[in-house]
Amino acid sequence: MKTDAELSTKLTHMGRPAAGLGTSVSHPLTRASTLLFEKAEDLYRNDIRGYGRHGTAVHDALAELFTELESGFDTLLFSSGLAALTGPILSMVKPGDQILLTDSAYGPTRSFCQTFLKRMGIETLFYDPRIGSNIAHHITDKTRLILLESPGSLTFEVQDIPAIAKVAKSHNVKTLIDNTWSAGITLNPLPLGIDVSVHAATKYFGGHSDVMYGAAVFANEADFKKAQQTAKQLGNASSPDDAYQILRGFRSVLPRFRQQEATSLALAEWLITRDDVQHVLHPAVSDHPDHQLWKRDFTGGGCIFSVVLKPLPDKNVLEFIDALKLFGIGYSYGGFESLAIHCDPQLRRSHADKLPGPLVRFACGLESMEDLKSDIEQALAQVF
Ligand SMILES: Cc1ncc(COP(=O)(O)O)c(C=O)c1O
Repeated sequence: MKTDAELSTKLTHMGRPAAGLGTSVSHPLTRASTLLFEKAEDLYRNDIRGYGRHGTAVHDALAELFTELESGFDTLLFSSGLAALTGPILSMVKPGDQILLTDSAYGPTRSFCQTFLKRMGIETLFYDPRIGSNIAHHITDKTRLILLESPGSLTFEVQDIPAIAKVAKSHNVKTLIDNTWSAGITLNPLPLGIDVSVHAATKYFGGHSDVMYGAAVFANEADFKKAQQTAKQLGNASSPDDAYQILRGFRSVLPRFRQQEATSLALAEWLITRDDVQHVLHPAVSDHPDHQLWKRDFTGGGCIFSVVLKPLPDKNVLEFIDALKLFGIGYSYGGFESLAIHCDPQLRRSHADKLPGPLVRFACGLESMEDLKSDIEQALAQVF
């Protein structure tokens, strides 16, 4: 993992145009479908960019930053985080294959595997996120890919990434992780043996809840080339305007991330002391069941966590969320503003026991921690 000192200088200086008299600090935004050639003989060269779908200098700079952040081989860019998951997955599987998916995966990933991949004749088996090296018991000669997400969506289980990667490698099975939570700032899964690390860049890198984007960082050339070909064949392209916004967000992601991370940990540690909260699901909190594993592999937290409230009728859970004044009601995280959602209606698990109370997720923005705390306190007082 890079230190903050290393990262902050790299994120400021990498991917910039060469300085010259009157040049802009950042790459100018180029909007293009057609790119012109000087000579007809150049039309079929494959050593130059020939068409708008293949990106711009801004896309190149953004890919370079993601590759550096994750210590990868190269990066593919996508129009959303979900597309950055589904494109690379499609490049790795064929009819008749099986994939193993963590039970704690982001809902739309689960749904893609259970419907789209199923239609292609690819079977998905769900595994307990805390399975570790016992994942070996689920591998058959049809297993092609293991999908991880750590910590898991909504419930924040931490996976034993090196143990799973080691088993996968010994069976010649590929691994792909959804690394959105850590922003690649507090976890680098590729040096731990994972083949592909995916970001919903919509979150921390966008940072302002106004742009959708995704990136998949590859550990090796062969997987990158395969996924690049699949993405091209699927017509993958992302708007230069969106790439520009994400590159802009990248420059300031580190200090924003650090503030949001500190706020989320402080709120989580306060919530755990309250009688109206049964559990706080945040791996950086010392009584989280995976805290030691998290400490081994991560260098910090994220901006989002959940709480299991004391049992409460659904109507009161909704009243609690409605009573929050600073937390908006909405999906996503990593933006400058705080958000809260009631998770129960979207919680799908094959392996976990039912939670002992309602699950509420908080995404921390850049407001003052004390103000967010007072906001939650007054909303809890209305229902307990
Ligand atoms: C963990 C995780 N992965 C992927 C995504 C999908 O990202 P996008 O909304 O950019 O498609 C999300 C979005 O909420 C997410 O939370």
